[in-house]
Amino acid sequence: MISNDKYIELARTYGTPLFVYDGDMMLERFRDLFRFIPCDRLNVHYALKANSNPALLTLLRDAGAGIDAVSPGEVVLAMALGFAPEKIIYTANNMTDAEFDRVMKTGVTVNIGSLSRLKKCAKSHPGARICLRFNPDVCDGDNEKTMTGGDLTKFGILLDDADTAAAIAAEGNLHIIGLHEHTGSGLQHAESVLKSMDNLMAIATKERFSELEFLDFGGGFKVPYKEDEARIDYVDMGNKIAVKFDNFCRQYGKELLMRFEPGKYLAAECGTLIMEVNTIKHNRTRTIAGCNSGFPHLIRPVLYGAYHRIENLTNPEGVPALYDVCGNICETGDRFAEQRELPEIREYDLLAVKNAGAYCYSMGSVYNLRPMPGEVVLKDGNVADFRPALSDEELVAQILRK
Ligand code: LLP
Repeated sequence: MISNDKYIELARTYGTPLFVYDGDMMLERFRDLFRFIPCDRLNVHYALKANSNPALLTLLRDAGAGIDAVSPGEVVLAMALGFAPEKIIYTANNMTDAEFDRVMKTGVTVNIGSLSRLKKCAKSHPGARICLRFNPDVCDGDNEKTMTGGDLTKFGILLDDADTAAAIAAEGNLHIIGLHEHTGSGLQHAESVLKSMDNLMAIATKERFSELEFLDFGGGFKVPYKEDEARIDYVDMGNKIAVKFDNFCRQYGKELLMRFEPGKYLAAECGTLIMEVNTIKHNRTRTIAGCNSGFPHLIRPVLYGAYHRIENLTNPEGVPALYDVCGNICETGDRFAEQRELPEIREYDLLAVKNAGAYCYSMGSVYNLRPMPGEVVLKDGNVADFRPALSDEELVAQILRK
């Protein structure tokens, strides 16, 4: 745990806005999964899209993690950081032929999620070893934009098309070495993971797919975002996962590898965005705390209506009042929180936005031409890495390709 004093010290040293990541916590979350899921053939592939900070990726690499990559750029980054191709799975959707060919050449396992791409692969890469992504037909997630199972989404091959997929693969002499599903992000119900596993395992018969080496059940493990939100009982869930998988392997007649691809679970809680309040404004009905960050740095509240805890680092004992915590972007919706009760906020107070490790920096932009914040990674309580923010001049030089 990083103390408030430490956050304040880091903010004073490196300036704000600033992302601070607790590398120890990320590793702890990584190890959690091996404690929770008692299967000695478990592989954890970190969903790099959640946070691509190189220092964090290096910690995970050294701990033995693999990578779930969703674009050629993510593959290039993972390989540049020393993840071996066989530790990377590529699960892009709606990929171009050029993109597909490029990744196939790297030796990374490509995960195909449409019959159309499968047919093209059978023609262009006969004999290739690939993975097939199925839509698990289970709807769950922390909001509708991040539920990936079910009829309304663009992801995966329909379970009903399993025979067709197997036939296309056989025609192109493709080796189907893995089957994959991803149900959604922030799965609310442990049962959804188990149900999706059941659905994938039901089509993973030896008769249809005789060369399987792994089953990949995606990501989606949730962590609490709200003050009073309970943690899922992952010990119970992990045991059920392991038993289910064991039974499947016995039936299939081979000890397959079990894969999960968590992003949020590993990254969310380890990150905090620190920002400074510069303007307090009293409207007729609202008190607005204006900060030196904005939704381009942390878009989840605006995009998903997501709740992120906020702490007043420099006035934790202040008298509570209601605040709209706003950013510095020229849009009314630029709020981190609306009508949130917080200890009195004064100008120059430092606020900490919690659970800012997953899908915050990585979904960032330079809208309004405000550079992305600096990032600090702590390991064993000390600063292990600092990536400074670009200056305005450096940002403009990038735009001008100078
Ligand atoms: N595997 C696949 C194929 C995925 O599409 C995703 C996430 C994951 C794994 C990791 O899911 P996680 O464990 O992080 O829930 N921007 C949204 C989340 C989008 C997730 C996209 N896919 C958010 O901020 O809530």
